[in-house]
Amino acid sequence: MSIKTAVHNGVALIEIARPEKKNALTQAMYTAMAEALRSAQAEPSVRAVLITGQPGIFTSGNDIEDFMQRPPRADGSPAPVFEFMQALIGCDKPVVAAVTGAAIGIGTTLLLHCDFVFISDEARLAMPFVSLGLVPEFASSLLVPQLMGHVKAAPKLLLGDPFTPDEAVECGIANAVLPGAEVVNHARRVAERFNNLPPAAVREAKRLMKGPQREQLAQVIKTEGALFAQRLQSPEAKEAFTAFFQKRAPDFSQFS
Ligand code: COA
Repeated sequence: MSIKTAVHNGVALIEIARPEKKNALTQAMYTAMAEALRSAQAEPSVRAVLITGQPGIFTSGNDIEDFMQRPPRADGSPAPVFEFMQALIGCDKPVVAAVTGAAIGIGTTLLLHCDFVFISDEARLAMPFVSLGLVPEFASSLLVPQLMGHVKAAPKLLLGDPFTPDEAVECGIANAVLPGAEVVNHARRVAERFNNLPPAAVREAKRLMKGPQREQLAQVIKTEGALFAQRLQSPEAKEAFTAFFQKRAPDFSQFS
């Protein structure tokens, strides 16, 4: 299975494990992660969640083959990615991310909804949605400019420029940069600190911290989601996806 889960010492681990495809996320993987988050939320012995990847790769984002073959369902039922992100955004237990390597697309977007983010000194974050003919998703169009200001967000969201680990810390996406070999253990130690804290107070405090923006996030996510679904079907996106699998640069010169 490409998502490994385990509960140990009060921490629910969600490990993305599809290294042969650089941990690209398929619909089945989103479903597994959504289920793991819901179980963590429901299980009283779980005090925190830890999301991680493989050495050198956190995730290369949504599986591009899935983008092409399985666009959002016509019957309007929620896509697995939506279920996962709703479970993450709605999780009132602390969520800690250990970014073991590159975090691309939703790999970076999901970090905006975690409570603690520790990042390997070898990692790169990137949100190349526009380069793929798409638009930012899951409130990244709101949260990234909010964190860093519009002009610093523009290279990240419009040009798809990567963030170095230090930049991610400076702009408030990540807490700290660690040597690659230490990032998971460090993140786990932080997650385990919640075993010594009163769980209901932790949950209430997190709800208070997130509460004021909850409605605005939901609205933005809806707007982005509708546009994202349209963009997935666009000729621009088709050219970008085809170019990726043909291992060539995309050519957008024919589009206006
Ligand atoms: N979806 C589907 N397959 C992916 C993938 C993705 N998001 N990312 C990587 N893969 C596959 C590659 O097609 C390749 O498959 P192959 O061995 O069958 O040819 C394999 O994983 C290894 O990837 P490769 O590109 O050769 O590794 P790399 O070390 O040179 O580069 C990345 C790693 C992550 C920088 C690069 O794979 C990449 O840019 N991936 C796409 C990221 C992206 O645009 N994600 C979507 C964001 S919305």
